[in-house]
Amino acid sequence: MTEQGPGHTRGPKTEDELIQDAMHELPYGIYVIGSTSAGTPNAMIADWVMQMSFSPRLIGAAFERDSTNLSNIRANRALTVNLLDEESMSLARSFVQPTSGAKVQGRSDGAAAVRHDKLADVDYRLDQRGCPILDDALIWIEAEAQDFVEVGDHVLVVARVLTARVQGSGDPLTSTITGWSYSG
Ligand SMILES: Cc1cc2nc3c(=O)[nH]c(=O)nc-3n(C[C@H](O)[C@H](O)[C@H](O)COP(=O)(O)O)c2cc1C
Repeated sequence: MTEQGPGHTRGPKTEDELIQDAMHELPYGIYVIGSTSAGTPNAMIADWVMQMSFSPRLIGAAFERDSTNLSNIRANRALTVNLLDEESMSLARSFVQPTSGAKVQGRSDGAAAVRHDKLADVDYRLDQRGCPILDDALIWIEAEAQDFVEVGDHVLVVARVLTARVQGSGDPLTSTITGWSYSG
């Protein structure tokens, strides 16, 4: 059987497209990672987050190199991880815009200069270090970055879990539910 592209109009898929299709099937949780810089909290949506060790308890998250949150975490090592629940699609949408307008290709100079406050319409409190914990998170984790590892086009932040709580009920929001894909 030959595998075809959409509409069967463009011939067989390339090896890279077939790999991409397979990678898209990996299921991910939908997380909001919080950070802080000079008293200003920030947050970003991420799904490349996982537990990496039992003892000590370590988690890992992979960041784009130009992420504002990554640069905050490099500066003070503080981060929070909020896992959203399956009712939180609209909350998740609040975090889709990047902090820096310049991250979106094709924006005018004016639009590129705009700093977007993703937390503006979101209910949250700050942990002792100033990182946001969302009121509607299913679970939250406070963590301290330990290692920054260059991994291909991302930076893997390995962080020690300081404390964590289940705060809500229900099931986690996942990439299977959102249909949003940050993979491939
Ligand atoms: C569903 C989804 C998952 C994402 N997962 C990640 C991720 O795991 N790591 C990452 O660096 N960016 C991820 N992003 C992109 C970041 O949210 C985006 O680059 C954001 O602008 C980073 O924010 P910052 O520049 O304010 O730090 C994801 C985006 C979406 C929509």
